[in-house]
Amino acid sequence: KVLILDFGSQVTQLIARRVRELNIYCEIHPYNSEKYNFADYKAVILSGSPHSVRGENAPKIDLSEVKGKKPLLGICYGAQYLAHFFGGEVGASNTREYGRANLSFLDHTNPLFDDIKEGSQVWMSHSDTILNLPDNYECIASTPDVKNAAYHVKGEDTYAIQFHPEVYHSTDGAKLLGNFLVKIAGVAQEWTPNNFVETTVQEIKDKVGNDKVVLGLSGGVDSTVAAVLLNKAIGDNLYCVFVNNGLLRKNEFEGVLKQYEGMGLNVKGVDATDRFMKELEGLSDPELKRKAIGKAFIDVFDQESHLIENVKWLAQGTIYPDVIESVSADGGPSATIKSHHNVGGLPDFMKLKIVEPLRMIFKDEVRRAGKSMGIDPELLGRHPFPGPGLAIRILGDITPEKVAMLQEVDAIFINGLKEHGLYDSVWQAGAILLPVQSVGVMGDERTYEKAVALRAVESTDGMTADWVDLPYKFLQEISNKIINSVKGVNRVVYDISSKPPATIEWE
Ligand code: XMP
Repeated sequence: KVLILDFGSQVTQLIARRVRELNIYCEIHPYNSEKYNFADYKAVILSGSPHSVRGENAPKIDLSEVKGKKPLLGICYGAQYLAHFFGGEVGASNTREYGRANLSFLDHTNPLFDDIKEGSQVWMSHSDTILNLPDNYECIASTPDVKNAAYHVKGEDTYAIQFHPEVYHSTDGAKLLGNFLVKIAGVAQEWTPNNFVETTVQEIKDKVGNDKVVLGLSGGVDSTVAAVLLNKAIGDNLYCVFVNNGLLRKNEFEGVLKQYEGMGLNVKGVDATDRFMKELEGLSDPELKRKAIGKAFIDVFDQESHLIENVKWLAQGTIYPDVIESVSADGGPSATIKSHHNVGGLPDFMKLKIVEPLRMIFKDEVRRAGKSMGIDPELLGRHPFPGPGLAIRILGDITPEKVAMLQEVDAIFINGLKEHGLYDSVWQAGAILLPVQSVGVMGDERTYEKAVALRAVESTDGMTADWVDLPYKFLQEISNKIINSVKGVNRVVYDISSKPPATIEWE
């Protein structure tokens, strides 16, 4: 496996994604973590960083077990680091070194550039530059503005590049990473979905043995793939609980439950709608609503797991981005924008051991693993849906009537996207019931009814998002359909805000 040491760059995760796409397993660890051991890895990659190697707070690390002993690749800060602290010189650059640039090679035969053409486009993003390389270092590529764009350390498998091969705009970036890892470091490309499924099933068997495991299914991709993996490993010793909080999409509880049963999962559907509605009664503050739902979920889930005699493990669909510890530039904790109820995990009074079969893989790998296990592509392609469900799309207090109204609106919108072949090109979509009434006219009558907003966004991970430019004709058709068929709604608007500054959900 490959180790990626994170010095705090925004794009470190992308390095891991690119490496995984080469069917090579890798892990990200903060450079100063105690959780990794160089001996476990075949090659090491140093990431970029918001810091300067010349700064007082420059992240530093002892590379004596690595440099000259294992294949080592420095990227951006990593490249400056391997130059600066080994006898070279890094200084502020006086030319613009952001954005596109084109490589010209000084050493065409270097294996790092195998099958990459002269002039290949790369992406630069740095304000320091490597002025002088240490003695035994050789520059192997430059760009018009950056003299030492890539170098090799003589007699070592140590390479470094000033640009970012992990970003999309570095056209041959994946190839370059492949050249380093496969041709130079000799790492095997064995990380495939089938392989992942096989090894994970074995790991679960070894870990869990004949114990019973409880898992909360949500209808989403992650919990479903986790359940299928566990089911393969331990069969009916996996007890799945699918809670209806009364805030799901129209017909979702029945539909998804049926699908799960069809997949051979040992699943219990628990309709706790009344319980959730009671907890939510009279609450209109977004955070209070989220907390009430989180608490109700834990209570219901706890009660259900106590019904499973002698259950020892709790399985969760946690994926790698939730696990990666990041090095924040200021070292401080980030602000809580919204309290996501399913991220913090369950309270320790449950005293269950945790099994998380997806904790080392990314979302696209979860989908590929799901596909290789034969899970319905429609289920794997479902949009993300928040744990608190429609409660955070009904602004203000929640009533069963409002939920029913929003379920109708949402179903028209989502089915419309599917019918028009737009569903898969949208990352997430939904409708929001606004606490606003407006005047309208239907037939000869004055109406004074509710307004709904439609939201559809493009995103890769939900961290940033942009609204989708849906065709006017489509929006017109959906708007008509909603107003004509959902009683109580007389106005439809489309949300054209991006994240940031807006968030995807309205609450
Ligand atoms: P925001 O609104 O923060 O949403 O831009 C980003 C993504 O997270 C989802 N979301 C949640 N998912 N539990 C979840 O499982 C939650 O409490 C929660 N709140 C927001 C949201 O749907 C979007 O995909």
